Amino acid sequence: MSGSVNNTNTSTPSSQSPPTLPQRRFGFGRRSSLFYAAALLAVFVAVTFKISTPGHRFVLPSLGLHPALRPGLLHKLQGLISITRQQQPGARHISERPPCVLWMAPFLSSGGYSSEAWAYITSLRAHAGDSQLRLQIDHHGDLQSVEFWLGLPEESRSLAHQLHATECSIDETIVVCHSEPGAWYPPLFETSLCPPTGYKDPLFVVGRTMFETDRLNPAHVARCNRMDAVWVPTEFHVSSFRRSGVDPAKVVKLVQPVDVEFFDPAKHEALVLPSKAPVLGSNSRASTGREFVFLSVFKWEHRKGWDVLLKAYLEEFSKADGVALYLLTSAYHSDKDFSTKIKVFVERSGMKEPTDGWAPIYLLDAHIPQSDLPRIYKATDTFVLPSRGEGWGRPIVEAMAMSVPVIATNWSGPTEYLTEDNAYPLSVARMSELVEGPFKGHFWAEPASDQLKGLMRHVVNNPEEARRRGRQARSDMIERFSPQVVAGLVVDQILNIVGNRSKRD
Ligand SMILES: *[C@@H]1O[C@H](CO)[C@@H](O)[C@H](O)[C@H]1NC(C)=O
Ligand SMILES: *[C@@H]1O[C@H](CO)[C@@H](O)[C@H](O)[C@H]1NC(C)=O
Repeated sequence: MSGSVNNTNTSTPSSQSPPTLPQRRFGFGRRSSLFYAAALLAVFVAVTFKISTPGHRFVLPSLGLHPALRPGLLHKLQGLISITRQQQPGARHISERPPCVLWMAPFLSSGGYSSEAWAYITSLRAHAGDSQLRLQIDHHGDLQSVEFWLGLPEESRSLAHQLHATECSIDETIVVCHSEPGAWYPPLFETSLCPPTGYKDPLFVVGRTMFETDRLNPAHVARCNRMDAVWVPTEFHVSSFRRSGVDPAKVVKLVQPVDVEFFDPAKHEALVLPSKAPVLGSNSRASTGREFVFLSVFKWEHRKGWDVLLKAYLEEFSKADGVALYLLTSAYHSDKDFSTKIKVFVERSGMKEPTDGWAPIYLLDAHIPQSDLPRIYKATDTFVLPSRGEGWGRPIVEAMAMSVPVIATNWSGPTEYLTEDNAYPLSVARMSELVEGPFKGHFWAEPASDQLKGLMRHVVNNPEEARRRGRQARSDMIERFSPQVVAGLVVDQILNIVGNRSKRD
């Protein structure tokens, strides 16, 4: 569960104010159509973030819809209301229609689960036709961010509108709850319910999750076991989930898609990276005539190993080396003054400034829209993330899809795809115990910091070899995780579920 280690969702529920987006209502029995319509209207409007001013955390439902949407929306609502009235569970011959999949995930928030969920639905949309499955989506599991929504490509936003409006009755629906288990019904914090009406009504319920330590909490194990199946992205998770007590028959590996069409180096121009005002050191381009760019993308938390990265980089390089480290980081339960955090870290670490000056470190503006990400990777010589544990490691695979050589810790999620041919896998020095937070007592990996220095030096000295591994990385991403390949795997799973259900009936 990306970001769920020391997740405030479980530890301090009050800091996560409830999303304004009401849960989807299914039209069975007691709930009045009117309430259903009001809820839907609010959902629909909330999804239409276009009208909002950035800076407002939540968008209040208003009639400020894009004019082009209004008549269609009303029509849609009327349609839904009449369906609601007529609908009787079991009234349809469900076997004659393609299965309906309701994918519930933090579509309107940034973060690992969100980008992963977007990757699944865009893959399914592109490669699994309406004749194979009917796909419906809803927001679930995290706070909505207007900024994130506005940064999405236009096609994504329009896809969200479209898929949100798919109509299915709950008894013919396979619900996928794509979030950390604490968000699943009944949720431990305020979020829309998944599955929406509990476990009895849907045809089948899947929990799609992952974790970054070596085990699962007993409470999470129990939540996994309430699901009909638990989809995890890697072999690492299949074994850690089973070892922790999740019913082995329920655990299914389903890898993540990587958007190899969006993250395609042939389609993007490199962004001109800022060279003014580094947090530390000074621009070395002028004096050395070149600059080898290291990039890291992460949330500012201990798990990501930013401390290991800064120390290795600053000890290995100085200004004379003509390298630069760019950090694209975002806050994680902390303030955003990363510049001060870096300076304080360097001061406290006791490192001595090299005589010719620090190798420079730059902060990239974290508000860079999602649509500009490929251009940042394109400007990068090597991506580096010495993290202590990853569910999957989306920035790593994005860099790989962009043919950027990567240095990343060979433990947890990334073991699914890192090899000596397509990357520079960083060894684990030892396992370390989490000493605080909700996952106290779990273990994760401490990356080998000396080897990290060696690998960073190696790519600077062997750029051609590094580029070769980068090309191999893209080809591996295409072969194993392209939208088409993964959409096929999802459809297989769905058909398998439907097949088993109809046998049982
Ligand atoms: C990475 O880790 C996996 C799983 O532990 C292991 O099988 C593999 O040999 C490792 N790769 C390298 C290059 O060390
Ligand atoms: C469907 O049944 C087959 C054969 O019994 C089993 O191997 C498979 O795991 C089942 N699939 C699901 C999703 O339950």
